Amino acid sequence: MKRIGTVVIGLGGIALISLFALNCKKKAGGPKAGAPRAVSPNGIAYPTGFKDWKVIGLSHREDNKTLRYILGNDVAVEAARSGKTNPWPDGAILGKVVWKQKTNDKWARAIGPGKLVHAEFMVKDAKKFASTGGWGYARWLGNEQKVFIKALPGAKKFTGKLCMNCHLPVKDNDYVFTRPASFPGSQKGVGPVPNGITIPMNYKDMRPLAVSRRLDNKTLRYILGNDIAVEAARSGKTNPWPKGSILAKMVWKEKSHPKWAKAIEPAKFVHAEFMIKDAKKYASTGGWGYARWKGLGQKPYAKRFNKEKKFSGKECMTCHLPVKGRDYVFTHAVNLP
Ligand code: HEC
Ligand code: HEC
Repeated sequence: MKRIGTVVIGLGGIALISLFALNCKKKAGGPKAGAPRAVSPNGIAYPTGFKDWKVIGLSHREDNKTLRYILGNDVAVEAARSGKTNPWPDGAILGKVVWKQKTNDKWARAIGPGKLVHAEFMVKDAKKFASTGGWGYARWLGNEQKVFIKALPGAKKFTGKLCMNCHLPVKDNDYVFTRPASFPGSQKGVGPVPNGITIPMNYKDMRPLAVSRRLDNKTLRYILGNDIAVEAARSGKTNPWPKGSILAKMVWKEKSHPKWAKAIEPAKFVHAEFMIKDAKKYASTGGWGYARWKGLGQKPYAKRFNKEKKFSGKECMTCHLPVKGRDYVFTHAVNLP
């Protein structure tokens, strides 16, 4: 019985997806927008401090050629990390930023964020937003951050139903498509790499600088920065990056989302790697110390390059030479309004 039920729901899901895909195609001409940073017609204000939230997931939508990252407020991050996401607790806010994809100017098989499309949110309050499945939906468009006000046909104003309808295929997952990415746990007791660099503690709490997808090795990546790096990126002082900057990159194998085949999401965690700026200490590798830890087990990466006695980071640096002119960094950090 159960199995039959699943099959029926499965087919229903597919029918729904095609229906909504059709609906989405029909609404050509683009969404309607109101005033910059105005309160959404359903009462949701732009969440303050959003760009400093911690990361939950990322995705690449092949259907509309966009890259996205999904961040959460403290309540959401706590729920994601403890696996308590069905339902998500009241007070959780999921924020998603969407960019048109752009090929990296120095690595043709990597795409990163281009033009900002919109930032959008799901705010959990089972009572307040009961008419839209317990989530309040809101979106702000482009660099002007104009509030999205398009209503469903026949409705007087935007209520979030338009959003909810497209999230129906994942109703059983509390209307959320994103399955939080897997991250290594604590960094306590993790050994150094042979060039002496120790793993930065709690690096998954660093703030996001960008996301990318590598088409050559089918991986999704998050690039994060410590406070010094984020500050430098936001003020555009990144050539050279200041001493003490740490750039972290987390890499996952990718897979397609079971309910939205053209959404690519992270699967198995591959590695976390770091560039640590100290022009003097790491002069032999261009002023950056390079280090990598593999898998959820966080095994230090120690592969030797060109008959060197031990891993020095030269192997990493060599591949970063195409961007020597911008202090060895490929990533263009995003600049959210
Ligand atoms: C055309 C269908 C569609 C519509 C319309 C839509 N969404 Fe989504 N939304 C998705 C899909 C698919 C994902 C997961 C893949 C991704 O990252 O884009 C998603 C993900 C999200 C997420 C991240 C959490 C999650 O569920 O994975 C938020 C937040 C979100 N949408 C908000 C909104 C808001 C706000 C609106 C309305 C203004 C909206 N969505 C309208 C399809 C849609
Ligand atoms: C095969 C070439 C190659 C090698 C080898 C390589 N990288 Fe990279 N790295 C890249 C490219 C391309 C990017 C930018 C695209 C992406 O992956 O997001 C990048 C990005 C990074 C970033 C994010 C900052 C930036 O430059 O965009 C870090 C941190 C990083 N690499 C660390 C390392 C470390 C540590 C090693 C060695 C253990 C290493 N890399 C080896 C090609 C390489």
